[in-house]
Amino acid sequence: MTRFTFDAPTVIRTKRDGGVLSDAAIDWVIDGYTHGAVHDEQMSALLMAIFLKGMTPAEISRWTAAMIDSGDRFDFSDLRAHGKPLRLVDKHSTGGVGDKITIPLVPVVMACGAAVPQAAGRGLGHTGGTLDKLESIAGFSAELSKDQIRQQLQDIGAAIFAAGDLAPADRKIYALRDVTATTESLPLIASSIMSKKVAEGAQALVLDTKVGRGAFLKSEAEARELAATMVALGKDQGVDTRALLTDMDRPLGLAVGNAVEVAESLDVLAGGGPPDVVELTLALATQMLDAAGIDATDPAQTLRDGTAMDRFRDLVAAQGGDLSQPLPIGAHAEHVTASRGGTMGDIDAMAVGLAVWRLGAGRSTPGGQVQFGAGVRIHRRPGDPVAAGDPLFTLYTDTPARFEGALAELDGGWSIDDSAPADRPLIIDRIT
Ligand code: URA
Repeated sequence: MTRFTFDAPTVIRTKRDGGVLSDAAIDWVIDGYTHGAVHDEQMSALLMAIFLKGMTPAEISRWTAAMIDSGDRFDFSDLRAHGKPLRLVDKHSTGGVGDKITIPLVPVVMACGAAVPQAAGRGLGHTGGTLDKLESIAGFSAELSKDQIRQQLQDIGAAIFAAGDLAPADRKIYALRDVTATTESLPLIASSIMSKKVAEGAQALVLDTKVGRGAFLKSEAEARELAATMVALGKDQGVDTRALLTDMDRPLGLAVGNAVEVAESLDVLAGGGPPDVVELTLALATQMLDAAGIDATDPAQTLRDGTAMDRFRDLVAAQGGDLSQPLPIGAHAEHVTASRGGTMGDIDAMAVGLAVWRLGAGRSTPGGQVQFGAGVRIHRRPGDPVAAGDPLFTLYTDTPARFEGALAELDGGWSIDDSAPADRPLIIDRIT
């Protein structure tokens, strides 16, 4: 039998011209990119063609399967606690601004009796990444071996780790998308998330699908399609998957960046924190516990009685982190104050996300360093009363030359009005 071989220009041209990639072409290009036979510039061109032309459901499914096959697939189903199998459940967000939810959520779910194997990501475009945030804790390491993950799941019930050998094709493609303006693509988001989530060994999965100005997909119709696509990909791979559709027009909480988001998460774990962060944490926890088959546990109680905070301390300590060390904060601060009195208007999540990225919290080259202390603190929520001269935002960075660009991004992304903006629900729908 003659073996048909592919070449990158033909694969790129097929997609560029609106064609459908065959299963064999997808397997070849993912394998070739993982092992270096397909080069960054070729994959960049293909990603842009996918961004512009999209993919059929069959292409997305094969692309995801090929990414899963590029690495290991964990199986922790043999782990037991108190003689019973561990209930392994995870959540993943499609990416938002101020979306620190994983940080309080994982310990809440641990405290309620489920186990969480979480392959987490780094910042992507204007959105932050859980790993960049957690690594702002002195000593915290997300580079865990499979044995360490297994041991941690057994000992404390959770591990948050860099995907490492899981879906290595996604690691490379994710880094490339971050710097080639190809993040906002339904097939690329769905396959990126689901390849990691299927490979990490969770039995159930809750997806937080963001919709609005600060989400990758802005329209509700697109976000619904993304959620439905991911739920179907998960179910096809034997993972009990469901999704929430949640608002990302406004940033989540009052802190956006790396260490500032950890600080806000600690407030939530201490029983306080902004109401929207608490609401979403508890809504996702409820879905995760339901998917894991755990009932009769009130996740809110774990925030009130400190058990979630205890589990977070266990998790950080297990991964080498030291919470007694102060969290970093940018060496330079710039304040935005109110020029007049009134009511705080809407805050555009995209404007804040881009400002934070310009301050140094994200990357502009693959594998670049982020500033752990870079970020924005928001002092007034939409609808809060404002007096002339009140502080509205504080921007932090180690590099003062970055303020100009960050302030320009923020400009026009908020307003002071005469009446409060319309309220809208944070949790829009649930998709199963
Ligand atoms: N999270 C991911 O892991 N991948 C994406 O593409 C977006 C969010």
